[in-house]
Amino acid sequence: DWNMPGYIDEAVRKIREQVGDEEVILGLSGGVDSSVAAALIHRAIGDQLTCVFVDHGLLRLNEGRMVMEMFAGRLHARVVHVDATAQFMGHLNGVTDPEQKRKIIGREFVEVFQAEAQKLPNAKWLAQGTIYPDVIESGGAKSKKAHTIKSHHNVGGLPETLGLKLLEPLRDLFKDEVRELGVALGLPHDMVYRHPFPGPGLGVRILGEVKQEYADLLRRADAIFIDELRAAGWYDKTSQAFAVFLPVKSVGVMGDGRTYEYVVALRAVETQDFMTAHWAELPHSLLGKVSNRIINEVRGINRVVYDISGKPPATIEWE
Ligand code: XMP
Repeated sequence: DWNMPGYIDEAVRKIREQVGDEEVILGLSGGVDSSVAAALIHRAIGDQLTCVFVDHGLLRLNEGRMVMEMFAGRLHARVVHVDATAQFMGHLNGVTDPEQKRKIIGREFVEVFQAEAQKLPNAKWLAQGTIYPDVIESGGAKSKKAHTIKSHHNVGGLPETLGLKLLEPLRDLFKDEVRELGVALGLPHDMVYRHPFPGPGLGVRILGEVKQEYADLLRRADAIFIDELRAAGWYDKTSQAFAVFLPVKSVGVMGDGRTYEYVVALRAVETQDFMTAHWAELPHSLLGKVSNRIINEVRGINRVVYDISGKPPATIEWE
């Protein structure tokens, strides 16, 4: 019933018909939905699409480079890469409250995106990777409840402020369909089947104040964890897995010396809907390997712990 080449042809035809010869901008985050939307719209209208990729400095290791290589390099799409790390770090300086951090990151994101959009005065459309569950959620009671616990940042309200029409080619699709579409459009499997990553990124995985030094340490620890999960075949068996930076120091020994360095917590969960979750029963040998590698390879971290809290009462993210 779901004939992919036919679906793509039809979607491309609809986008061309809707947009005509007008220009479109799209906020590319590196996430599955915006990536698939970008690939589909690019297939339909090529250079009439400009992607704006805002790097807030809180992305995973090499994420920015991979997004640029894929979209600008391989697909030859127009992509504006904005490195706004300094701006985000500046505004986050001294801020420790999780909700405050989310608000700042969300607000700055909109600001940077808007400034870029204004440099493209010919754009008449704003494309978004809204998928069917988002459509339902924005009217549902379930999400309202979730929102009071943690405010999830998005760019809602942007099209009105910018005076743009909204283009949402994935609106009828469920997540698995979006992933299949992504693969059919030539996106790499690893990009399309990636675990979800929160909009505020490492900003909510560095407890308390966000500092450049912390983000750099966390990125490396997280990359080691994910590498080892993939190598052991556990990545696809977990719904979400990541490292969390704890800004507390503990004592260790290294050779003849004493160390006094930071702690990283590993979190891996299995869940259907992200409303409830079980901690993943990763093999001890795998956890041991990850811990050894992080402590040996990431100078500044001398202790690794594993989070065995379920949701509820703990949330998946630590903030
Ligand atoms: P929690 O921590 O509430 O997370 O159990 C449930 C799911 O939501 C993601 N999450 C966010 N996603 N902006 C996002 O885009 C946010 O501020 C945010 N906070 C949590 C989290 O990664 C998990 O998948």
